[in-house]
Amino acid sequence: MSIEKKGSESNEQKSGTSLQPKCIRDSLQTKWLGRNLVVLEETGSTNEDVKRLAREGATEGTLVTANMQSAGKGSKGRHWQSPAGEALYFSFLLRPVFSPQKASMLTLVIAHSLAVALQKFLKNEEQKHSIGIKWPNDIVMEQKKLCGILTEMSATMEGIDYVVIGTGVNVNNQSFPEEVADKATSLALLYGKEFSREQLLTMILEEFEKDYAIFLETEDLSGLKEDYEKHLLNKGEQVRILDSKGEYTGLAKGISDQGELLVERDGGVEKIFAGEVSVRGLYSYV
Ligand code: BTN
Repeated sequence: MSIEKKGSESNEQKSGTSLQPKCIRDSLQTKWLGRNLVVLEETGSTNEDVKRLAREGATEGTLVTANMQSAGKGSKGRHWQSPAGEALYFSFLLRPVFSPQKASMLTLVIAHSLAVALQKFLKNEEQKHSIGIKWPNDIVMEQKKLCGILTEMSATMEGIDYVVIGTGVNVNNQSFPEEVADKATSLALLYGKEFSREQLLTMILEEFEKDYAIFLETEDLSGLKEDYEKHLLNKGEQVRILDSKGEYTGLAKGISDQGELLVERDGGVEKIFAGEVSVRGLYSYV
């Protein structure tokens, strides 16, 4: 017997271009993540919104999503183009009690959650497209970037005050600005149809809640590493490492429990720490 998917079960975009808060609330199955939910038509940056809420005492799991950002922030101080009604923009608040040095691993945790959620979200699509993680946290489909993650932290000598994880997913974008057009893609461009951003958001949050619980058991990536590596596009590939000292190539073997990229080079294995370097394929972005 086949059951037709209706309303909140379908992953297709159903109505208008504004985000539907009710649709998010109705399908959200998390315990704490996104339970304090703010849905905005327009904002500067959802990361900035969550940081402000954090300073005002908001609870862990507080989430802000917006239909449009006028000052979307990308990594390395770049601007993240955030047109209305196209992509998914959201940020949420964590208040971890572990040491600030461990926070950088959270970007690999959310990358894993995104990869798993997207695979589930797209599993019934007839067209198949490759999807994976470019270390440490870019989600890539057909060699082009689909999602970006910006993690920000406020910490003192005593520990972490808060962490904000911000994510942009190119869902229904029909085009990209010239400067990123050759590197970026969207689900709509790949599949030729529009998808429900609300449904995708709730699936991502459910995956993150599970992954974060696994991460907290050991406060490292040992529990997620094996599955993260299954999604890691760099694994077994030659990579170009660009750091402050120059450029070299090596063979990417996987990640360490701390999330460093393990690169075999000159008979040894180097541990590459995210943040200090750029990693590229030999002939392309991945
Ligand atoms: C990157 O450059 O790859 C990171 C992009 C992160 C963009 C997201 S969109 C939601 C959240 N709010 C922001 O201002 N930035 C992040």
